[in-house]
Amino acid sequence: MPLLKVRNVTKCFGGLVAVNNISLEIRHGETLALVGPNGAGKTTLFNLLNGVFPADEGQIIFEDVDVTHFPAYRRAHLGIGRTFQIPRPFNSATVRENIAIGGMFGAAGSEIDVDRAMAMADHYIEVMGLSPHRDKPAGGLTPIEKKLVEIARALAMKPRLLLMDEAMAGMNPKDIDKMVAFLKEIRETEGIAIVAMVEHIMRAVSGLAERVLVMHQGAKLVDEPTREALSDPRVIEVYLGKPPEADHAHG
Ligand SMILES: Nc1ncnc2c1ncn2[C@@H]1O[C@H](COP(=O)(O)OP(=O)(O)O)[C@@H](O)[C@H]1O
Ligand SMILES: [Mg+2]
Repeated sequence: MPLLKVRNVTKCFGGLVAVNNISLEIRHGETLALVGPNGAGKTTLFNLLNGVFPADEGQIIFEDVDVTHFPAYRRAHLGIGRTFQIPRPFNSATVRENIAIGGMFGAAGSEIDVDRAMAMADHYIEVMGLSPHRDKPAGGLTPIEKKLVEIARALAMKPRLLLMDEAMAGMNPKDIDKMVAFLKEIRETEGIAIVAMVEHIMRAVSGLAERVLVMHQGAKLVDEPTREALSDPRVIEVYLGKPPEADHAHG
């Protein structure tokens, strides 16, 4: 039984088919890299999975529950966590408070009290190397630090599935290597499935993703083990004349 089962989801914006009849399955604990050129529909697919808006067509089953018509907060309670392309922390709240909010609105639901949420926040602050910033207002952090807070907040939600939008955008190679190592570690320690949207297909490998899903013009172009995807002529064609680096400009 897969963790997530997506059947034929479609989402249109006016005449534009942003996500076109996509089906996919994610197994417990697996790591999937989601790649594709700018405008391919990756963020829209995430929005459908975590319930930012409903799919026009199709069905989404998470751990045996049909969540197709569930709002985002109910999917979060069930264990679908999400980080956003552009982190928007509560700027005047501290790093610790921002992360604790994840604990209070995540899979623990209303059962978690503030003290426990703060303790969870402290754990992920430690894990993410954010200790020097713990009591600072999140608004004053660098973009990379905000990204780390965003990830810590999502982890504090105790997800079974973590969707990471533009997981490593804007990071230098050293930060990317650190992030890859970190994702490998949480995959082991938390046992969660991760769908990481990554900008560089080569970075998706780095021993991180077992599978690669390539989107192109709203559709699923390729869904196969990383090794095969890297030498797949269809994948190479999508990137020909448009290196994935161009995605950096995408806001
Ligand atoms: N809220 C929206 N309203 C209208 N069009 C949208 C919206 N979100 C995304 N789109 C369009 O859907 C397509 C896919 O966008 P997106 O999912 O953001 O792609 P990606 O994340 O792969 O770059 C693009 O053409 C984009 O302009
Ligand atoms: Mg996007």
